[in-house]
Amino acid sequence: MPPSPVVPCHSPVPDPSLYEPINTLKPVVPDVWIADGPVVRMAMPCGLSMPFTTRMTIVRLRDGGLWCHSPIAPDDALFAAIDALGPVRDLVSPNQLHYAHIAAWKRRYPHAVARASPGVSERAAAQDIEARFDAAFDDAAPSPWPGEIDPLLFRGSRAFGEVVFFHRASATLVLADLIENFEKEKLTRGMRAVARLGGVLDPDGKAPLDMRMTFTDRGAARDCLRQLLAWKPQRVLLAHGRWYERDGVEQLQRAFRWLE
Ligand SMILES: [Fe+2]
Repeated sequence: MPPSPVVPCHSPVPDPSLYEPINTLKPVVPDVWIADGPVVRMAMPCGLSMPFTTRMTIVRLRDGGLWCHSPIAPDDALFAAIDALGPVRDLVSPNQLHYAHIAAWKRRYPHAVARASPGVSERAAAQDIEARFDAAFDDAAPSPWPGEIDPLLFRGSRAFGEVVFFHRASATLVLADLIENFEKEKLTRGMRAVARLGGVLDPDGKAPLDMRMTFTDRGAARDCLRQLLAWKPQRVLLAHGRWYERDGVEQLQRAFRWLE
């Protein structure tokens, strides 16, 4: 039998650790998109570094401006896709761990308002990472997007504060690290064990154990959870791992049962 012809293949081999295609807009519901990004490695308290898939959320506001939550490492294709949607109005850092690419986006969109979460500017300075913010979230002030997106600082931790966002028109809650939900197929066997120990393995993703341990004011956190539930989100978008397309309230009740 003659040998099979060798067919040149120019397609990159899919990377099972990623939500491919990355740096591509993926529609969620009208006026809401996500873009999955590359993996970043985060040092864990156990001394290992864990691969985190990254994801940003884009909401088109009523005036056509774009609200960009936790912007990922950009490339020209992603910028071009964003440009086709509309003008970028807001670049949102939801917590002190999500800010690394704000500066790159701010360079591209100098008129966008880069919004700092509590403590993020100090952390960026300590890490010697460029961060260019124009405004800080003020829990006592009205929403910068009245009637469209409700921000809420999730309180109760002595070390961590995340601003969460509810998009009214689509009943979508947008979280960064308050729920992490890593799928085992995207992790090595060793990392699956780490994720399971940290309580962040799909289908039972939640805030990681070391973060949960910093919530010393459970009453304040429960008050915030009550607000999240009162919003009755249909879906919950996450920055890391599988997000929840439906049953938002039930997923919140499951993921935050550690507050009971
Ligand atoms: Fe994160």
